[in-house]
Amino acid sequence: MDIINTPQERELLSGGVLSGKVRVPGDKSISHRALLFGAIADGITTVEGMLPAEDPISTAKCLRAMGPKISPIDHDGNPVQIQGVGLDGLEEPERILDCGNSGTTMRLLMGMLVGQQNRHFVLTGDQSLRHRPMERVSRPLKIMGGKVTGRSEGNFAPLAIQGSSLHGAVIGTPVASAQVKSALLLASLTAQGPTTVIEPSHSRDHSERMLRAFGADLQVGGEMGRHIIVRPGARLKGQKVVVPGDISSAAFWLVAGALLTGSDLTIENVGLNPTRTGILEVMEKMGAKIEVLTQEEIAGEPVGTLRVRSGPLKPFSIGGEIIPRLVDEVPILTVAACFCDGESKITGASELRVKETDRLTVMSRQLKRMGANIEEHSDGLIIYGGKTLKGASLDSETDHRVAMSLGIAALMAEGNSTLLQSEAAAVSYPNFWKDLERLRH
Ligand code: S3P
Repeated sequence: MDIINTPQERELLSGGVLSGKVRVPGDKSISHRALLFGAIADGITTVEGMLPAEDPISTAKCLRAMGPKISPIDHDGNPVQIQGVGLDGLEEPERILDCGNSGTTMRLLMGMLVGQQNRHFVLTGDQSLRHRPMERVSRPLKIMGGKVTGRSEGNFAPLAIQGSSLHGAVIGTPVASAQVKSALLLASLTAQGPTTVIEPSHSRDHSERMLRAFGADLQVGGEMGRHIIVRPGARLKGQKVVVPGDISSAAFWLVAGALLTGSDLTIENVGLNPTRTGILEVMEKMGAKIEVLTQEEIAGEPVGTLRVRSGPLKPFSIGGEIIPRLVDEVPILTVAACFCDGESKITGASELRVKETDRLTVMSRQLKRMGANIEEHSDGLIIYGGKTLKGASLDSETDHRVAMSLGIAALMAEGNSTLLQSEAAAVSYPNFWKDLERLRH
């Protein structure tokens, strides 16, 4: 059976040291893609290391409603099997497809379903997802001939998709978003003629890597490798996918291990795809003691073991092309900044405002409850670090990465804290609180 979580207020203890080994759960982005691509491939796809969390479970549920058979996603680490139905084999679902809290599920499904001719699909999600912008996907899909409607002219779910015949196009995306890019790549698999997608800067490239491994005719070229060209015609073939651990989940341990005096953590099986390692580059500049103990390539993705030890950290300034490469790590970097003496600056991060919550506002609001000095700007934050933070009553405001970031901030505060809606962590890291308890001594 898939897993269901209940609301929890949690006590967060301050202090202690973190030591030992942790193996972070599977990469969320790669888990979604393995399910989606497996569903439209011919034959069986086997996925090892699938993330057993709410978001990929939402993807699996939506896909099952359209025909592909997918074995249960459980916590025992059993490989997940997907019986693909081919590029044009999805059935019209009788019911609304519920994407839960998952933007990746909704946006990638939009791209996948828009070219399923003569079938109709309705997508919705939870309260947070129904307020996240979808026009960034529906608009370029319309350029390819896609038919998507929704509230606010196709911007908000519930969305209705009438599958139709698509034509290839050259499309420049206005934001460096892997979700937008991936939706277009999926749509282009069944379009008439080639499609070129051009991003303003590099976002994560898991789709490109995995689609090619599944047999798609996809090339990356152009200036700085920012043009992705898909030629339709090739069928996808079921694969064995090995999902590395999620660097976005490892980031909580990297920051906690670097901050909490006396800590020494080994983090195993961390995905080290260069489009995701912005956090390591920033932490290196901050003077964090992080070593890459091993590194290898597994199933087309670089993977390694990291060791982090505590030590003094310097404030940082980030903006520009690095933001897409650490977009999900901004909340935990905001926490890190609170504990570095001096001013840290985050710019060019307005995308944070349209994540599961407005993460710039929510992180400032919650950390201010602990006494942090943070200035909010339209596209970022200035954090005046080095002040002692005090334990406080906190709230994840339903956001998984906020929940875990606050869990780490609370370790560093003077006095214990409480966290409302701590169960949100299960969206991407179901055992986060258990791992924290186990690693804290
Ligand atoms: C994701 C892309 C990013 C990221 C999200 C997962 C993906 O979103 O924040 O957690 O799997 O493609 P954007 O594409 O909106 O930047």
